[in-house]
Amino acid sequence: MVVNKELLDEIEKELNGDINLPLKEFATNLVFGKGNPDADILFVGEAAGRNEDEQGLPFVGAAGNNLDKLLEKVGLSLNDVYIANILKYRPPENRDPLPEEIKAHTPWLIKQIKVIKPKVVCSLGNYATKFFLALGDVDKMNLQPGITSVHGNVKMIDFEGLKIKLIPLFHPAAIIYNRSLIESWEKDMEIVRREAYPSLGSNGTKKEILF
Ligand code: URA
Repeated sequence: MVVNKELLDEIEKELNGDINLPLKEFATNLVFGKGNPDADILFVGEAAGRNEDEQGLPFVGAAGNNLDKLLEKVGLSLNDVYIANILKYRPPENRDPLPEEIKAHTPWLIKQIKVIKPKVVCSLGNYATKFFLALGDVDKMNLQPGITSVHGNVKMIDFEGLKIKLIPLFHPAAIIYNRSLIESWEKDMEIVRREAYPSLGSNGTKKEILF
Protein backbone atom coordinates (compact mmCIF):
# COMPACT_ATOMS: atom_id res chain seq x y z
CA MET A 1 0.00 0.00 0.00
CA VAL A 2 1.33 3.45 -0.85
CA VAL A 3 1.30 5.58 2.24
CA ASN A 4 0.85 9.32 2.53
CA LYS A 5 4.45 9.85 3.56
CA GLU A 6 5.71 8.29 0.34
CA LEU A 7 3.26 10.30 -1.76
CA LEU A 8 4.35 13.54 -0.07
CA ASP A 9 8.01 12.60 -0.51
CA GLU A 10 7.39 12.13 -4.23
CA ILE A 11 5.76 15.55 -4.54
CA GLU A 12 8.61 17.16 -2.61
CA LYS A 13 11.17 15.41 -4.80
CA GLU A 14 9.41 16.61 -7.95
CA LEU A 15 9.33 20.17 -6.63
CA ASN A 16 13.00 19.95 -5.72
CA GLY A 17 13.78 18.93 -9.30
CA ASP A 18 13.52 21.12 -12.38
CA ILE A 19 10.38 23.03 -11.37
CA ASN A 20 11.24 26.72 -11.44
CA LEU A 21 8.78 28.37 -9.13
CA PRO A 22 9.04 32.12 -8.64
CA LEU A 23 11.20 32.97 -5.57
CA LYS A 24 13.29 29.79 -5.94
CA GLU A 25 16.24 31.85 -7.19
CA PHE A 26 16.32 33.89 -3.95
CA ALA A 27 15.87 30.99 -1.55
CA THR A 28 18.34 28.63 0.13
CA ASN A 29 15.92 25.73 0.51
CA LEU A 30 12.51 24.53 -0.48
CA VAL A 31 10.20 24.68 2.57
CA PHE A 32 7.72 21.91 1.83
CA GLY A 33 6.14 20.77 5.09
CA LYS A 34 6.56 18.87 8.33
CA GLY A 35 4.50 16.82 10.77
CA ASN A 36 2.31 13.77 10.42
CA PRO A 37 1.32 13.02 6.80
CA ASP A 38 -1.73 11.13 8.13
CA ALA A 39 -2.89 13.93 10.42
CA ASP A 40 -6.52 15.08 10.65
CA ILE A 41 -5.41 18.68 11.12
CA LEU A 42 -3.46 20.71 8.58
CA PHE A 43 -1.98 24.09 9.46
CA VAL A 44 -1.29 26.39 6.55
CA GLY A 45 0.93 29.41 7.08
CA GLU A 46 2.06 32.09 4.70
CA ALA A 47 5.71 31.61 3.81
CA ALA A 48 9.07 30.73 5.26
CA GLY A 49 11.15 33.24 7.16
CA ARG A 50 14.93 33.22 7.47
CA ASN A 51 15.18 30.24 9.85
CA GLU A 52 12.78 28.17 7.80
CA ASP A 53 14.65 28.99 4.61
CA GLU A 54 17.95 27.95 6.22
CA GLN A 55 16.58 24.67 7.59
CA GLY A 56 14.12 23.80 4.82
CA LEU A 57 11.33 23.31 7.36
CA PRO A 58 8.24 25.42 8.14
CA PHE A 59 7.74 27.11 11.51
CA VAL A 60 11.11 26.54 13.11
CA GLY A 61 11.73 30.18 14.15
CA ALA A 62 9.99 32.28 16.79
CA ALA A 63 6.54 31.79 15.24
CA GLY A 64 7.18 28.05 15.22
CA ASN A 65 8.06 28.18 18.89
CA ASN A 66 4.71 29.80 19.62
CA LEU A 67 2.91 27.26 17.52
CA ASP A 68 4.57 24.35 19.35
CA LYS A 69 3.65 25.81 22.76
CA LEU A 70 0.07 26.39 21.80
CA LEU A 71 -0.36 22.91 20.38
CA GLU A 72 1.05 21.54 23.61
CA LYS A 73 -1.31 23.64 25.66
CA VAL A 74 -4.35 22.04 24.06
CA GLY A 75 -2.86 18.57 24.28
CA LEU A 76 -1.65 18.35 20.68
CA SER A 77 1.80 17.88 19.19
CA LEU A 78 3.50 17.76 15.80
CA ASN A 79 2.36 14.17 15.66
CA ASP A 80 -1.27 15.32 15.42
CA VAL A 81 -0.81 17.89 12.68
CA TYR A 82 0.87 18.55 9.36
CA ILE A 83 2.20 22.04 8.68
CA ALA A 84 2.73 23.65 5.28
CA ASN A 85 2.76 27.11 3.73
CA ILE A 86 1.03 28.94 0.90
CA LEU A 87 4.47 29.75 -0.60
CA LYS A 88 7.09 27.06 -0.85
CA TYR A 89 10.05 29.49 -0.89
CA ARG A 90 10.88 32.48 1.28
CA PRO A 91 10.14 35.87 -0.30
CA PRO A 92 13.15 38.22 -0.10
CA GLU A 93 13.20 40.12 3.23
CA ASN A 94 9.97 38.31 4.19
CA ARG A 95 7.92 40.63 2.01
CA ASP A 96 4.23 39.86 1.40
CA PRO A 97 3.44 37.23 -1.23
CA LEU A 98 2.41 38.53 -4.66
CA PRO A 99 -0.69 37.17 -6.41
CA GLU A 100 1.42 35.61 -9.22
CA GLU A 101 3.52 33.83 -6.61
CA ILE A 102 0.45 32.51 -4.80
CA LYS A 103 -0.96 31.32 -8.14
CA ALA A 104 2.27 29.50 -9.01
CA HIS A 105 2.90 27.95 -5.60
CA THR A 106 -0.55 26.87 -4.37
CA PRO A 107 -1.06 24.03 -6.87
CA TRP A 108 1.69 22.32 -4.83
CA LEU A 109 -0.17 22.99 -1.59
CA ILE A 110 -3.28 21.54 -3.21
CA LYS A 111 -1.32 18.38 -4.12
CA GLN A 112 -0.31 18.09 -0.46
CA ILE A 113 -3.92 18.57 0.69
CA LYS A 114 -5.18 15.89 -1.70
CA VAL A 115 -2.76 13.40 -0.17
CA ILE A 116 -3.35 14.32 3.47
CA LYS A 117 -7.14 14.80 3.14
CA PRO A 118 -7.35 16.67 6.46
CA LYS A 119 -10.65 16.98 8.32
CA VAL A 120 -9.69 20.41 9.60
CA VAL A 121 -7.59 23.10 7.93
CA CYS A 122 -6.33 25.88 10.16
CA SER A 123 -5.35 28.84 8.03
CA LEU A 124 -2.79 30.94 9.86
CA GLY A 125 -3.15 34.68 9.24
CA ASN A 126 -4.63 36.68 6.41
CA TYR A 127 -3.06 35.18 3.30
CA ALA A 128 -3.85 31.56 4.04
CA THR A 129 -7.32 32.43 5.33
CA LYS A 130 -8.25 34.47 2.26
CA PHE A 131 -6.90 31.76 -0.03
CA PHE A 132 -9.22 29.14 1.49
CA LEU A 133 -12.22 31.45 1.85
CA ALA A 134 -11.82 32.25 -1.87
CA LEU A 135 -11.75 28.47 -2.45
CA GLY A 136 -8.36 28.78 -4.09
CA ASP A 137 -9.31 31.56 -6.52
CA VAL A 138 -6.40 33.96 -5.96
CA ASP A 139 -8.15 36.79 -7.83
CA LYS A 140 -10.97 36.67 -5.28
CA MET A 141 -8.74 36.76 -2.21
CA ASN A 142 -9.00 40.52 -1.81
CA LEU A 143 -12.81 40.21 -1.54
CA GLN A 144 -12.55 38.02 1.57
CA PRO A 145 -12.84 39.17 5.19
CA GLY A 146 -9.68 39.56 7.25
CA ILE A 147 -8.49 37.29 10.02
CA THR A 148 -9.66 39.61 12.82
CA SER A 149 -13.31 39.11 11.90
CA VAL A 150 -13.20 35.37 11.12
CA HIS A 151 -10.67 33.79 13.52
CA GLY A 152 -12.11 30.86 15.45
CA ASN A 153 -15.12 30.50 13.14
CA VAL A 154 -15.73 27.04 11.75
CA LYS A 155 -16.72 27.01 8.10
CA MET A 156 -17.38 23.90 6.03
CA ILE A 157 -15.84 24.38 2.62
CA ASP A 158 -15.80 22.26 -0.49
CA PHE A 159 -12.20 22.59 -1.51
CA GLU A 160 -10.90 20.75 -4.56
CA GLY A 161 -13.53 18.06 -4.08
CA LEU A 162 -12.78 17.63 -0.37
CA LYS A 163 -15.15 18.59 2.44
CA ILE A 164 -13.01 20.47 4.92
CA LYS A 165 -13.68 22.33 8.15
CA LEU A 166 -11.81 25.60 7.79
CA ILE A 167 -10.84 27.28 11.07
CA PRO A 168 -8.87 30.52 10.61
CA LEU A 169 -6.39 31.37 13.37
CA PHE A 170 -4.27 34.40 14.08
CA HIS A 171 -0.80 33.92 12.67
CA PRO A 172 1.55 32.67 15.44
CA ALA A 173 3.98 35.46 14.50
CA ALA A 174 1.29 38.06 15.29
CA ILE A 175 1.26 36.79 18.86
CA ILE A 176 4.90 37.75 19.27
CA TYR A 177 4.05 41.41 18.70
CA ASN A 178 0.58 41.47 20.22
CA ARG A 179 0.32 39.50 23.41
CA SER A 180 -3.35 40.32 23.89
CA LEU A 181 -4.02 37.86 21.08
CA ILE A 182 -2.80 34.93 23.15
CA GLU A 183 -6.16 34.45 24.85
CA SER A 184 -8.08 34.44 21.55
CA TRP A 185 -5.56 32.06 20.11
CA GLU A 186 -5.97 29.61 22.98
CA LYS A 187 -9.76 29.71 22.72
CA ASP A 188 -9.58 29.17 18.98
CA MET A 189 -7.25 26.22 19.42
CA GLU A 190 -9.73 24.60 21.78
CA ILE A 191 -12.29 24.89 18.98
CA VAL A 192 -9.80 23.26 16.61
CA ARG A 193 -9.23 20.35 18.96
CA ARG A 194 -12.95 19.88 19.53
CA GLU A 195 -13.76 19.96 15.82
CA ALA A 196 -10.95 17.55 14.94
CA TYR A 197 -11.61 15.12 17.81
CA PRO A 198 -15.27 15.60 18.86
CA SER A 199 -15.18 12.59 21.20
CA LEU A 200 -12.40 13.97 23.41
CA GLY A 201 -14.48 16.64 25.20
CA SER A 202 -12.73 19.40 27.07
CA ASN A 203 -9.08 19.00 27.87
CA GLY A 204 -8.37 18.62 31.55
CA THR A 205 -4.60 18.35 31.11
CA LYS A 206 -3.76 21.88 30.10
CA LYS A 207 -0.32 23.00 31.06
CA GLU A 208 0.58 26.52 32.03
CA ILE A 209 2.90 28.00 29.42
CA LEU A 210 4.56 31.35 29.08
CA PHE A 211 5.24 33.09 25.81
N1 URA B 1 5.57 31.99 9.09
C1 URA B 1 4.91 31.25 8.17
O1 URA B 1 3.84 31.63 7.72
N2 URA B 1 5.43 30.11 7.79
C2 URA B 1 6.57 29.64 8.28
O2 URA B 1 6.99 28.56 7.89
C3 URA B 1 7.24 30.42 9.24
C4 URA B 1 6.73 31.59 9.63
